[in-house]
Amino acid sequence: MKWNKVKKSKSIIAAIIGLFIIFIPIVGPTVSAQENADTFNWTRENVSTLTINEQNTAPTFNKDELVKLSSDYYIWDAWPLQDLNGHPAVVNGFKIIFALSVPKDVLPGKRHDLAQIQYFYSKDGKSWVSGGPVFKDGDALGSRQWAGSSIINRDGRLQLFYTATGQKNEAQLSYDQRLATATADIRTTNTSLTFKNWSKHEIIVEADGKYYQTKEQTGNEESSYAFRDPYFFQDPKTGEEYLLFEANSAGKPEDRPFKPEYIGSEEFRRNHVNPKGSKAFNGSIGIAKATDKDLSKFELLPPLLEANYVNDELERPSVIVKGNSYYLFTKTHREKFAPGLDAPEGLYGFTSDSLFGGYHPLNNSGLVIANPTDNPYQAYSWMVMPNGTVTSFVNYVNVDSKDIYEVGEQSPEYQMEHFGGMLAPSLKISITRDETKIVHEKKQGVFK
Ligand code: FRU
Repeated sequence: MKWNKVKKSKSIIAAIIGLFIIFIPIVGPTVSAQENADTFNWTRENVSTLTINEQNTAPTFNKDELVKLSSDYYIWDAWPLQDLNGHPAVVNGFKIIFALSVPKDVLPGKRHDLAQIQYFYSKDGKSWVSGGPVFKDGDALGSRQWAGSSIINRDGRLQLFYTATGQKNEAQLSYDQRLATATADIRTTNTSLTFKNWSKHEIIVEADGKYYQTKEQTGNEESSYAFRDPYFFQDPKTGEEYLLFEANSAGKPEDRPFKPEYIGSEEFRRNHVNPKGSKAFNGSIGIAKATDKDLSKFELLPPLLEANYVNDELERPSVIVKGNSYYLFTKTHREKFAPGLDAPEGLYGFTSDSLFGGYHPLNNSGLVIANPTDNPYQAYSWMVMPNGTVTSFVNYVNVDSKDIYEVGEQSPEYQMEHFGGMLAPSLKISITRDETKIVHEKKQGVFK
């Protein structure tokens, strides 16, 4: 290369670098306030402060006195049709709920492998009529559908967000999970309600491996994988719209660095034994922001909460707003707490003045509702409505001192006799700043 050519190319390079320096701050990647926000760590210290008391223990109920939502199907994980602001919706006088279901001859423990979403409608909000499966045969994505949420969208249509689990027509059951959506018109007569003109089902959110663990990153030592249970939330403070979901902290176990703040304060850490096996516990509550008004495109943001070394399954998260505060709820099983932590099957909650960051656990530990100690699997999948009504479904009752694994080893007759698969009596909780209390039991099937 001749010298003047070299000189020329040198000055061209310098000009390019100059331009780059000038333009980076303008066109370079922008980091939004949300991306900067601190993910809250639910710590071993928080959980260690947990006490079971009158304020957080649900009353025992008698399953045999309860009304089944369906005589042919077990149902669980129910949710109501909601307005954009989270309140239960009413369509031409009808209230609508959705629930996961399987025919009653399926072993309760196998229900997750065959789950299908059904709907029920009601004029009085207490007695529900079965509408059957929500989706037309073959329309839904995944080999089965797991929990979600439903809203009336801006076009006045039903918009259902759900978990597409596994792959359609798969030969062997798989457990990958993606968030999907579909919309439909709601048609009513005086006595019935149906959904018509379904849109094509679309996958809208998938794990990225950066904020949220992909199926491929899951280690053998990890007890479960989660990227599921979308919950729609419109922030009344900003009007922004989001999906919350259950997930796991990203990365393979060997690539996830230990941070002392996962355990708790320095003082707590001095005396606390953290068993090695707790590294495999990496539950999180994820969030994705809608980038269009049709709610068809979402951008993943860092998790709102992580429970590394604490808990592996933060199921069906949801959020309500009361006064200036956000209340974030999730439910989990006692066996999903990391070794060395003893906490019940229950509803857990956290509060903050902002949606992103600044959370602290309700009642210090996070525990809001626990099953009665002598009936530890009585109910599950609590959902907190904006007025403090909490719904759930009847899980396993009167299993004496058997744990959930032992229940699974009993005869099919035993398992079916002790499983509810129906709505549980609702509960009313009071929320005062960062403290909650179970106030009283409400009727079965009441969502408001
Ligand atoms: C909670 C749950 C959900 C999931 C569903 C699958 O009961 O584990 O997280 O969507 O059950 O059946």
